[in-house]
Amino acid sequence: MKNLVIANWKMNPQTLKEAKQLFSSVKKRIKNIKDIEVVICPPFVYLPILGASAFAKGYGGLAFGSQDCFWEEKGAFTGEISPKMLKNLGCQYVIIGHSERRKLGETDETINKKIKAVITAKLKPILCIGETEKERKAGKTFKVLKTQIKKNLNNLTIKQFNNLILAYEPVWAIGTGNPCSSKEAKKVFLFLQKLFGKVPVLYGGSVNSENARDYIEKAKFQGLLVGGASLNTKEFIEIVRIVSKH
Ligand code: PGA
Repeated sequence: MKNLVIANWKMNPQTLKEAKQLFSSVKKRIKNIKDIEVVICPPFVYLPILGASAFAKGYGGLAFGSQDCFWEEKGAFTGEISPKMLKNLGCQYVIIGHSERRKLGETDETINKKIKAVITAKLKPILCIGETEKERKAGKTFKVLKTQIKKNLNNLTIKQFNNLILAYEPVWAIGTGNPCSSKEAKKVFLFLQKLFGKVPVLYGGSVNSENARDYIEKAKFQGLLVGGASLNTKEFIEIVRIVSKH
């Protein structure tokens, strides 16, 4: 599998015009990058519009993902979006269990349902796991990760595991400008690799063009999940180029 760079735009940008500009400037600059997969995860509302323009001109090396989804296929679930709808729009990936969603009430049980629904719809879930600052300070990082993994992946079949992507995102490093050192992140990478073998493991949390190389070269992560820096074309392209050389 190719290394991945996931752009998590979160609830940005504020206008469709800006979203189109950001998307087309990224698309233009990654045209020749073929050795990695770059996945854009915009807010739901922009997906069909950006997706349609990408469809029209060919994907040009970019894939699409969403930042969440619901676990049912259809029906009376006001405000929800199903994996099937996302698949129909050309999405290939879905971020599940991001810490910002966990903070808003997402539980390990709903994450588990979503992972299964996403795989059933033939999409790839990117499961985010990570410890808080308090848990890290108490030396509980591995215990927390183990519990999240156990609950979030409960009752998954071996076949379903083949579609999974894991993202180690220490909560204290997300959006703080305080990234986890590659040395510390590597310990988690090795722990996850030992548990999961072939499942790709990404790092996320204050990734920028200065620290990106270390996560790939030193810690050996198979990709990056980029939040804030994915909204800045120059910075994001720089990160993509760094990952692409390996
Ligand atoms: P950040 O976000 O790069 O802004 O820290 C990462 C994430 O939330 O996935």
